[in-house]
Amino acid sequence: MPKKYYIETYGCQMNVADSEVVASILGDAGYEPVKDIKKADLILVNTCSIRENAEQRVWGRLDLFRSEKRKRPQVIVGVLGCMAERLKEKLLDSDKMVDMVVGPDAYRDLPMLVSSAGEGHKAVNVLLSREETYADISPVRLESNGVSAFISIMRGCNNMCAYCVVPYTRGAERSRDPHTIVREAQEIFAKGYREITLLGQNVNSYSWTGTETDNNDFPSLIRRGGLRQPAEDGVVLSNSQTLSIDNQKQINFPRLLEMVATIDPRLRVRFSTSHPKDLSDDVLHTMAKHDNICKHIHLPVQSGSSSVLGRMNRKYTREWYLDRINAIKRIVPDCTLSTDIIAGFCGETDEEHRETLSLMHEVGFDFAYMFKYSERPDTKAARHMKDDVPETVKTRRLNDIIALQNQLSAKGKKADIGKTFKVLVEGKAKKPAGAMMGRTTGNKVVVFQAADTKPGDYVSITIINATSATLLGVRRD
Ligand code: SAH
Ligand code: SF4
Ligand code: F3S
Repeated sequence: MPKKYYIETYGCQMNVADSEVVASILGDAGYEPVKDIKKADLILVNTCSIRENAEQRVWGRLDLFRSEKRKRPQVIVGVLGCMAERLKEKLLDSDKMVDMVVGPDAYRDLPMLVSSAGEGHKAVNVLLSREETYADISPVRLESNGVSAFISIMRGCNNMCAYCVVPYTRGAERSRDPHTIVREAQEIFAKGYREITLLGQNVNSYSWTGTETDNNDFPSLIRRGGLRQPAEDGVVLSNSQTLSIDNQKQINFPRLLEMVATIDPRLRVRFSTSHPKDLSDDVLHTMAKHDNICKHIHLPVQSGSSSVLGRMNRKYTREWYLDRINAIKRIVPDCTLSTDIIAGFCGETDEEHRETLSLMHEVGFDFAYMFKYSERPDTKAARHMKDDVPETVKTRRLNDIIALQNQLSAKGKKADIGKTFKVLVEGKAKKPAGAMMGRTTGNKVVVFQAADTKPGDYVSITIINATSATLLGVRRD
């Protein structure tokens, strides 16, 4: 009988992608996933440390796992991911009955750690790596809709934003071998997937330098995937249908994007997250050139005030950010925009807060993730700055930001009424009964009635109405 594991995932898309790597490693070691915790021999929680409430939620779940372990003492409970990395052995000392603590770069070690924990030893591996990208591992898509998938293209972060715990929990930035990225995209396209999201904390700094051997098998990979059109700058289809990549040893993000986009025009490509300091015109031109690169950019601004951005160590100003927005609007017209905003960072004044509101007005974001600043231990802000904006003020400012974003989102959706979009069908809508849902290239959710469509189809939908979260449309084709 194969052993059974149960896994819960918190945090960002990177963590979702990591759980899929974990599922692959455990599958190879003879473990089988189960959805019912009561049937599991191994309970795993892949955790997030980004804000205090993210960690609180996990502590709450560990209480539940502890009660399961009381009933069945042979069950192994393992904490994975960013909290494992941040708290390390401290997790074992807690009264939560944790047996195993595994950081984000140590998942290959899981089978060994599980057997060690099974023998009654506390098992820990929280070593961070400069090289690990899990490049050769084919993720097992656990919660997939069969249409969209994440592909992790890099790990870690070198940016050291003052408030952020990620560089400490995920380590130094490293980029994954592009051959393995293209291969993974080809494989899942062949399985029927029609949308991939290339993931990294800062995808625009993706940079991979190849060796001769790597380059030698690169053309065959591209050929097998059927590169349909010549790409720019070195990846050129010659008459003999081979690719010359002499000057292609260094692959940057626009080139990677192009390699993936040319796999098949029916495969949509998204990417996240872009850091404003690194979003180049080259990326925007690549987006404009390929219809299947989705016209949506998630560009976290954090604050509209240059002085706050300086304290956050974001390395750009309000003006720089607005210049990037103008470049997007110029080069990729109709591109939708989303962002992340933090309310009440250290020393934020009312005036600085108003600058965030005015920037939001000026850009007109389609969507935003909005947070109250949460001090994270050992970050630059925690060490050198005072978390001095009172909780009530943070709450008020966050509410201002949310209220404004609601207005902007509603305005953006109203403007879509009457327009026709190519929608990739993802599945059944929650409501109304019988309706289907999918997304536009701009990542807006569309609900429509069409009994004869299935996930993975592209349909043409004209928008007739909008609610706060979705567009409602009718089929045109
Ligand atoms: N790498 C991405 C974002 C990673 S974290 C980027 O740089 O844009 C996702 C978001 O969480 C951040 O954009 C930020 O808005 C928010 N965040 C990070 N640390 C935070 C903190 N200490 N308190 C509140 N929000 C935080
Ligand atoms: Fe955190 Fe900044 Fe890195 Fe994003 S870019 S993960 S906010 S340190
Ligand atoms: Fe959270 Fe770690 Fe992602 S802290 S946001 S799970 S990188």
